Amino acid sequence: TKTQNQLLVIFGASGDLTARKLIPAILNLAKGGHLPENFVVLGASRSSWSDEEFRKNVITESKHLKEKLVDEDKKFIAEFTARMFYHELSSAEDTDYSKLNKRITQLDSEHDTEGNFIFYLSVPPSAHEMISNNLHKQGLHKEDKGWRRLIVEKPFGYDLKTAKELNATLQRYFKESQIYRIDHYLGKETVQNLLVTRFANSIFEPLWNRNYIHYVEITNAESGGVEKRGGYYDKSGALRDMFQSHLLQIVALIVMEPPLSADAEQIRNEKLKALKSLRIMTDEKTLHENTIRAQYISSVIDGKKVNGYREEEGVDADSTTETYAALKFFVDNWRWADVPFYVRTAKRMPTKVTEVVIHFKSPHHQIFKDSGMDQKDNKLIIRIQPDEGVLIKFGVKVPGQGFKVERANLDFYYSSLTETHVMEAYERLLLDAMQGDPTLYARADEVEAAWAFVDPILDYWKDNEDVRVYGYSAGVWGPENADELIEGIGRWRNPGSN
Ligand code: BG6
Repeated sequence: TKTQNQLLVIFGASGDLTARKLIPAILNLAKGGHLPENFVVLGASRSSWSDEEFRKNVITESKHLKEKLVDEDKKFIAEFTARMFYHELSSAEDTDYSKLNKRITQLDSEHDTEGNFIFYLSVPPSAHEMISNNLHKQGLHKEDKGWRRLIVEKPFGYDLKTAKELNATLQRYFKESQIYRIDHYLGKETVQNLLVTRFANSIFEPLWNRNYIHYVEITNAESGGVEKRGGYYDKSGALRDMFQSHLLQIVALIVMEPPLSADAEQIRNEKLKALKSLRIMTDEKTLHENTIRAQYISSVIDGKKVNGYREEEGVDADSTTETYAALKFFVDNWRWADVPFYVRTAKRMPTKVTEVVIHFKSPHHQIFKDSGMDQKDNKLIIRIQPDEGVLIKFGVKVPGQGFKVERANLDFYYSSLTETHVMEAYERLLLDAMQGDPTLYARADEVEAAWAFVDPILDYWKDNEDVRVYGYSAGVWGPENADELIEGIGRWRNPGSN
């Protein structure tokens, strides 16, 4: 697909995300030859920077790029930065936006970007209304000359109610087809590979249902704590920060029915149906038994003291915000009836890893029962990150007399596929938006369906202070109580192990 000439306006250009993710992604796209001939970046933010300062801060002197730039072709950087501009946007005044509009129009005509504009909102949600409203007032939503697109960063709301309000706000000023809600997990190759594993093979899909699958287990673990984001995180927590978005997107890709085609709307329709089929937990007993929340507490890792969550900067000293969430839930449809899903996400785990484990049922007639192998053990493990790959565990005969069965691995590593540069999530997603492909972006109704599932759990936790927030030492696999959640059926897999 050809990428058309265009101008990318980044709101929040002096913020962390721009320097850390967006600009490196754009630079890589440029190096890979993916950008159109006429491509312009206009940063907009409150900081009073000049064009030159913007270029310095996010490229030539950016700490996120400095080392990577050493061997860089200086000419390339010089050419690239010459297409980057900055506009100080100081308040919500109409005059500010009319000045911004003038700047955009001027750059558009000078650089021949053909009226194609992307507006990237890398700003807190509280600014979404103001910016989209003002873009609309300036007529910048109208696609009379070129196309106009709006990319929005999460969080998409704080709960179902505010998510609906946000969607309504954005849709007041832009059409849904112009709105791109970024979920960077959908930009990960291995997340996209869930679709390919399921629908480009004939060997998995026939087994992909309640007749053969015993249970599904998903682990998303980070070794880091809340770092410098305590202020944001304390109002959010693991369920909002990771579950509502990234993890439910992964769940949707596992649960969904085969789409008619790989077309964006077909895929998103099926994901929506999948999200709507998650059984919403309403009664207290289920909420009590099937949800676990916990917080990391201070510990010593590699000889160094690590802060407990409540000691982190920006975090309330009595905070009950969870840094660990584990849920057991069901999917109410023909394919998945009675198959439990166990999903956990947490910070300050022993390692950073995300994996999906499909646990298959044991063979229904076991002739090697006494052979030493736990025959329940057929597993398909999809490693989202790191060591991206797919692993199948199956039984093989141990050479020698009798029928002793042992477990063997069929193991595929993504790294064996390519030595060329694998696009990072932001690169892939930005390029898709530049080309007008929303497949890997979350649609309004998907986001709302995900909130509808998460909302009652958040309410239950909030309204029942006595629902314990367990503690787990930083650097261990969460609280012991989470083991009880899965005990009836198995044990949490030690992720990353073979
Ligand atoms: C973000 C969350 O969306 O995803 C962070 O806000 C989290 O809290 C991050 O650390 C994890 O992303 P990744 O790609 O490192 O797994």
